[in-house]
Amino acid sequence: DNIKILGSAVSIGQPRQGVEKTPSVLQAEKIENLIPIGRVTWVETIDQHAYTYENPRAGPIRNVQDIAKYNKILYDKILSHLSTEDFLLTIGGDHSIGSATVSAMLKATDGNLGVIWIDAHGDCNTPETSPSGNYHGMPVAHLLGLLQCPIEFQWDQPILPVTSIAMIGIRDLDPEEKVLMDKIGIRYYTMEIIHEMGIETVITEALKYIDPNGTKKIHVSFDVDGLDPELVPGTGTIAPNGLTLHDYAVIAQKVKLTGDRFASMDLVEINFDIEKNVTLDSVKEIIRITFQ
Ligand code: ARG
Ligand code: MN
Ligand code: MN
Ligand code: MN
Repeated sequence: DNIKILGSAVSIGQPRQGVEKTPSVLQAEKIENLIPIGRVTWVETIDQHAYTYENPRAGPIRNVQDIAKYNKILYDKILSHLSTEDFLLTIGGDHSIGSATVSAMLKATDGNLGVIWIDAHGDCNTPETSPSGNYHGMPVAHLLGLLQCPIEFQWDQPILPVTSIAMIGIRDLDPEEKVLMDKIGIRYYTMEIIHEMGIETVITEALKYIDPNGTKKIHVSFDVDGLDPELVPGTGTIAPNGLTLHDYAVIAQKVKLTGDRFASMDLVEINFDIEKNVTLDSVKEIIRITFQ
């Protein structure tokens, strides 16, 4: 199978510069050499600055016009580059791209998709619940159809059922975001629950939940702040007491047991401007664990 890497050089989903440089840093590091299986191609890197980037408009969602425009381009490019046997790895960028990658995979699979969302955060804010106005805290709410979809996003009609996603590593929810998540009954595994149940039981149960018959394609959206900050100090929104690389290895092992139903992954929120050495080592380990 072919592994296609798409760079998503975008930082407009949150206020800190640096995340947009990650695809070019990882390409310079030749991370594709860490992938022993299949044929790996860097397809292209989609630079936010290549598209009109002129509307940091203040409002309930910061940069909403540019984000919507960028995500539409990313969505279209994924669908044009992807064929059924390909594995898609999208390297961000901040987590705002998650609504575009998951939407594209929903389209490509006719909705036959389950999502594992690895994150310290719920990314389930709406403009009404968000304390920050940053869209990288909203892509899950968007995918579930919970945003009063801003006009800019009307190209996208997300159709992810709430039972098709499970979140792992959660430990930093905004108060109203948590109320919303509990109200809609989204499945999330906090660090506390993970310590209680054990990571292997968690991922086994999560996969069963999002894909009860074992027939769906699986997308993993990996926000590196889901890992412990000692492993990934280079990220913009840090939350202590996170997942270990061994936890991720167990998650990946179970996901890989789905064979070529494991179709796509996002790797987001890596910011080498904040810290590079330790973070790069961990990112390389994530790549090895995922593809070895
Ligand atoms: N909950 C916070 C917010 O909505 C932080 C979100 C962090 N999201 C992320 N993808 N790192 O602003
Ligand atoms: Mn996060
Ligand atoms: Mn996130
Ligand atoms: Mn632990």
